[in-house]
Amino acid sequence: MKGIILAGGRATRLRPLTWVISKQLLPVYDKPMIYYPIETLIKAGIKDILIIISPENSGLFLNLLGTGEQFGCHFSYVIQKEPRGLAEAFILAEDFLDKDDVTMILGDNIFDHDFSKEIQSFKGGGQIYLKKLDNVEDVKRLGVVELDENNKVISIEEKPEKPKSMYVSVGLYTYDHHVVEIAKNLKPSARGELEISGNPSINNTYLDNKDLKACVFDAYWQDAGTFESLLEAGNHMSGKASIKL
Ligand code: DAU
Repeated sequence: MKGIILAGGRATRLRPLTWVISKQLLPVYDKPMIYYPIETLIKAGIKDILIIISPENSGLFLNLLGTGEQFGCHFSYVIQKEPRGLAEAFILAEDFLDKDDVTMILGDNIFDHDFSKEIQSFKGGGQIYLKKLDNVEDVKRLGVVELDENNKVISIEEKPEKPKSMYVSVGLYTYDHHVVEIAKNLKPSARGELEISGNPSINNTYLDNKDLKACVFDAYWQDAGTFESLLEAGNHMSGKASIKL
C-alpha cells in the first residue's frame, strides 16, 4: 500500500495567511499542518508517500520534508500545475503507484485516530471513511454519503443543498490500482473539477460498479481549511500528546 498526500490548491479561504505560504505548512499547535496527515499514514503502516504540491510552494515543502528520512519514510513529490480537482492526484501519481493499492489523505485533514485496521484489511475496490456530524450546515459543505441499515453505500453527493444523510466522507480514501484508469476517464463536473465524490466522480464510479465500501469511525476529525477550523484543530491538538516527528 502506497500513500498520497494532496497538498496543492490555492487556499483562498485562508487569505491573507496563504498569500505567500501554503495552507498545509501553516502551524497547527506545535507542528506544520502536513505533519498530521504524515502521522496518520505512518500510523497505518504506510511509508512510501507521494506529496502533491503547487508550483509556488514546492521549495518550501522540499526544505521542510526532504527525502522523508527523518520520518523513517520515503517521500516523492509531484507538482500539480493548477488545482483541477482531487481526482487528478491519481493521474499525476500513475508512475509512482505502479499498479499498487493506494491510500490518499488530504493535506488539511487532521485526525486523531488509528486507521491501520481498516487500511490493512483493504481487499480491493474503493474504501471511504465516514463520520456522522450533528450540524447540517457543516454537512452541506462536504461529501455526503447515504447508507442503508447494513452500512452499505446508497448514494454520494458533493456539497448537496439538501443532504440525504448526516454521514460525511472525510479526506481519506483507499483504492485499488483501477483508480488511475477511472480518474483518466473522468469528465469534469459542473463546477469544472475532476471530482472524488461529486457527479461524475471516482467514488460514484466504484459505487456504480458495486465495489465501494464505507468504514464509519467515531473519533476526532477536522478539515482545517477555514480560520475557525484551523484554530479549533490547534486547540484540540494542544491538549494531546503527539508523536514527535
Ligand atoms: O475534507 C473532506 C472533504 O474534502 C470531503 O468531504 C469532500 O468530499 C471533498 O471534496 C473535499 O472537499 P473540500 O471542499 O475540502 O475540497 P477542497 O477543494 O478544499 O480541497 C481539499 C484539499 O485538497 C485542499 O487542502 C487543497 C487540496 N487540493 C484541492 C484541489 C481541488 C489540491 O491539492 N488540488 C486540487 O486540485
